[in-house]
Amino acid sequence: MPLHPLDSDRWLLTTDHTAYLLGLNADGRLVHGYWGPRLPYDDDYPALPTYSHYPFNSDAADEYAFTGAGHLVPEEYPTYEGVKYTEPCLKTAFADGVRDTVLHFQRAAPDGERLTIYLAEAVYPLRVTLHYRAHSAHDLIERWATLENTGDTPITLERVWSAMWHVPAGPRYRLSHLHGRWKNEFQRAQETLHPGIKRLESRRLTTSSSHSPWFALDEGQATETGGAVWFGLLAWSGNWALSAEVTEFYRTQLGIGLNDWDFAWRLDPGETLTTPASLAGYTAAGFGGAARALHGYIREHLPHPEHPRKVLYNSWEVTGFDVNEANQRALADQAAALGVECFVMDDGWFHGRHSDRAGLGDWWPDAGKFPHGLAPLIEHVNGLGMDFGLWIEPEMVNPDSDLYRAHPDWAIHFPTRERTTSRHQLILNLARQDVQDYLIDLLDKLLSAHPIAFIKWDMNRNASQPGWPDTEREPRELWARYVLGVYRVWGTLRERHPGVIWQGCSGGGGRTDAGILRHADQIWISDNTAAPGRLAIQAGYSQMFPACTMEAWVTDMGHEPLSLDFRFHVSMCGVLGLGGDIRAWDEAERDAARAHITTYKQIRPLVQFGEQYWLAKGDYFWAVQYQHGGQGVVFAFLTHRIDPVEPLRARLQGLDPTARYTLEGFDGARSGAAWMSGAVQLPLGEPQGKTNFSSLLLRLTQV
Ligand code: DGJ
Repeated sequence: MPLHPLDSDRWLLTTDHTAYLLGLNADGRLVHGYWGPRLPYDDDYPALPTYSHYPFNSDAADEYAFTGAGHLVPEEYPTYEGVKYTEPCLKTAFADGVRDTVLHFQRAAPDGERLTIYLAEAVYPLRVTLHYRAHSAHDLIERWATLENTGDTPITLERVWSAMWHVPAGPRYRLSHLHGRWKNEFQRAQETLHPGIKRLESRRLTTSSSHSPWFALDEGQATETGGAVWFGLLAWSGNWALSAEVTEFYRTQLGIGLNDWDFAWRLDPGETLTTPASLAGYTAAGFGGAARALHGYIREHLPHPEHPRKVLYNSWEVTGFDVNEANQRALADQAAALGVECFVMDDGWFHGRHSDRAGLGDWWPDAGKFPHGLAPLIEHVNGLGMDFGLWIEPEMVNPDSDLYRAHPDWAIHFPTRERTTSRHQLILNLARQDVQDYLIDLLDKLLSAHPIAFIKWDMNRNASQPGWPDTEREPRELWARYVLGVYRVWGTLRERHPGVIWQGCSGGGGRTDAGILRHADQIWISDNTAAPGRLAIQAGYSQMFPACTMEAWVTDMGHEPLSLDFRFHVSMCGVLGLGGDIRAWDEAERDAARAHITTYKQIRPLVQFGEQYWLAKGDYFWAVQYQHGGQGVVFAFLTHRIDPVEPLRARLQGLDPTARYTLEGFDGARSGAAWMSGAVQLPLGEPQGKTNFSSLLLRLTQV
């Protein structure tokens, strides 16, 4: 039973290994009680914390003193009210100017793995419903909130977050987060939290490459393989904020939700607003355990959860904007001969697209490049036994396009300001329903007219002058309504074309989050395809999302003389793709590529659907294992040999201790316990002289 009332006003959400307690304390406040390992007996769980007085944070004499005390009591969904100075989840302004929100508990409705808590404002017609859902097998708790205006005047929401997560009070926590920039996404940072607020956010309209809406808190000692970690994310593809706060009394809380920067939402009478979901968990199995919990959940909720991801070829790094029927046919011929299963034509195919200066918005084939339309190329690709995939960037418009000339008002803009382009393009305002409808109709026709099996959906700039002139809504709703618009367009197309596999992209990984992964099966995680740089990018990405969503191409990028083996092995850690100029590869390179693709097809179920264990994540030595039942595969990489030479050792993980396994290249079978307790020395960088940028792929087999 994932949920049960401990007594009349305490509710315990349990998963296979964890528990989360909340309830009404003696003051009638909805407070947090416990989050950690599942305990053997109900009376193991603590009593709920109550208000205690502290000068400047409350008033001991006041019977409503408990409305303050943000520093003192861990509230499940704190509002801005009373004597409270810590971060709230909710800040409102009522029609009469009052900006103090007092929520009273109404009732709780436990139902299977779900708990719904109904709250209502003490005076004003605002209902707040808190939703909790335990995902037992993944050891995750999902939270979101719904706000409803039950009155007859508008209420302005100035902040509305999805959840406040509380970790046990006491220790100093370390915050791990992922940051980066274009071509260098998902780099892990770790810092100890001190009293005050550490805020991470996106103000860019997309999730952004700068920071990811993911966090992990630990007491400073957790490793990849062990230690207590509280972690979570926000399933949202637009402006988000995360605030990790240590209060005056060393209580650590983390709020997460829609970004309140430049935000306001007018909740009109009768309207509701549902926040994005935040998903979080506790594990004793370190950062690796945290990753595997999220992977399991994400895999289950992808548009095509069971579908093995195909080996694809993408034209971008070879033909750029200069695509035409002849050069795409030539690439497709080569790709098919190597064993590629899906041929994707990237940017450059549509009307007037000869560079990044024109064409976005005019989504029909360029007559000069494709005089007979797309059909002959698609037939050719299908005739070679491959699926056909196509690149689009539907949210954008170049000023030099027929669409923009017809609808200049459709772009996001402030009327008195010059429209700042980025990559020579403007953003269509997908908060507008007419723009959404237009895109749905257009893309539906494109997908209906051709057997297109794969769409790469790109998004290549961030917002500026975020205006929505002439709207009847509060214009600052644009930030969130835009994202809802993207979800609506994408969701409608998915419903109408359920067989299409979708790739999410925003100049690489600029819109990577659990929200987009409800629409996209896989993500183009970085425009950096130079294999050494990708190791850290892939490792960071894999902290949140599983390998079956991580598209990785072998290309010609990078100055180092990297072997094809190294480049393939890096890409085989995710969804293998090719993006190099395979027309120019010699016979030996083609043979090697063919052999790697054959191997990948054999190990694909392990990589895409197995459990991931990082064995080494370092400056120069990286190793990752994918394990699926009794079968496994280990990839190891040496980027440069340090002097003096150190043996490169790794300890396997995730094996059944009493089963026996063989590891390719090592004599004899050993028990899982033996492989996991004694580190094996990997023959990387041998023989001498061929040390840098060497890699291994070793299969692990249960005997
Ligand atoms: C950015 C993407 O990340 C690239 O892979 C490519 O599709 C270009 N856009 C095309 O403009």
